[in-house]
Amino acid sequence: MYFDEELKNRIERTEQIICGYLPKEEGYGNEVIEAMNYSFLAGGKRIRPLLMIETHILCGGNGQLVSPFMAAIEMIHTYSLIHDDLPEMDNDELRRGKPTTWKKYGPATAVLAGDGLLNYSMETAGCAFELAQTPEEYELISGALRILYHRSGIYGMIGGQCADIAAEEMSEIPEEMLDYIHVNKTAALIRASMSIGAVLAGVRPKIVSDIDRAAKCIGLAFQIQDDILDVTSNDATLGKPVGSDAKNNKSTYVSIHGLEESKEAVNKLSNEALKIIRGMDSKNEFLEELIEWMINRDR
Ligand code: IPE
Ligand code: IPE
Ligand code: MG
Ligand code: MG
Ligand code: MG
Repeated sequence: MYFDEELKNRIERTEQIICGYLPKEEGYGNEVIEAMNYSFLAGGKRIRPLLMIETHILCGGNGQLVSPFMAAIEMIHTYSLIHDDLPEMDNDELRRGKPTTWKKYGPATAVLAGDGLLNYSMETAGCAFELAQTPEEYELISGALRILYHRSGIYGMIGGQCADIAAEEMSEIPEEMLDYIHVNKTAALIRASMSIGAVLAGVRPKIVSDIDRAAKCIGLAFQIQDDILDVTSNDATLGKPVGSDAKNNKSTYVSIHGLEESKEAVNKLSNEALKIIRGMDSKNEFLEELIEWMINRDR
């Protein structure tokens, strides 16, 4: 009960921070800005900015530089969802409990809204430079920017989404390719979130790499749980259509290994992450509980 209350409060605080960075709806390009804000404000668990700030707290950060990056990662995540739902990708009509962006605004505006969010994420993350007070802080921000755009690009999220679509045409996919898809389409942004939280706290590289290892496990577990929920949940709870993976002939951890083995994998990976986090000198109990909550999440 206590954790649920705390989670609600911390999500609210996260929302306040990230929503403050949204663009004003004005000018002849107004429709695309409206579509960006519609998708961003539709809701969502805000897991990535939350993991970023909680990792930052774990690493002893003072929170000065992290806010623009919290907004930027959620913008990138939201753009990935807008494009993921397009007719030419997963062809889904419900997202975060509302009509998908392409369903409401048409595919052309949805493509542009995704592009708009990606560009605006750069302007937003760049605001951190205005908050920096020392040359060391400039360095930290540069490092965080490199991680953000490396992990969301062709060697991260975009690469994973590309392989995910390619796999639809294949009757069987090698385990290695399934790993590639999970590690990139989903774990990459979770790794970016947690690593940036650590980097902006100014911790040693060894700690950043420990955090990154934990985040990779959390990201893999997160996608396996997403694939489980695609089979076991319902549209109302999930806020998106169940059965989307089967409809698109996706090879998922569940379609290859079955539900039981998938649940075990979520547990095993999450425990691996918890072991790394608990082994660190500093503590953040809320972060540990959040990782545990994610194992059994129903949405
Ligand atoms: C959905 O992510 C897409 C995946 C990478 C599995 P989330 O489950 O975090 O979606 P929202 O942000 O809560 O809508
Ligand atoms: C999408 O995976 C991951 C990204 C958007 C990068 P899914 O296609 O499984 O996500 P959902 O289930 O539509 O949210
Ligand atoms: Mg997809
Ligand atoms: Mg999808
Ligand atoms: Mg899914």
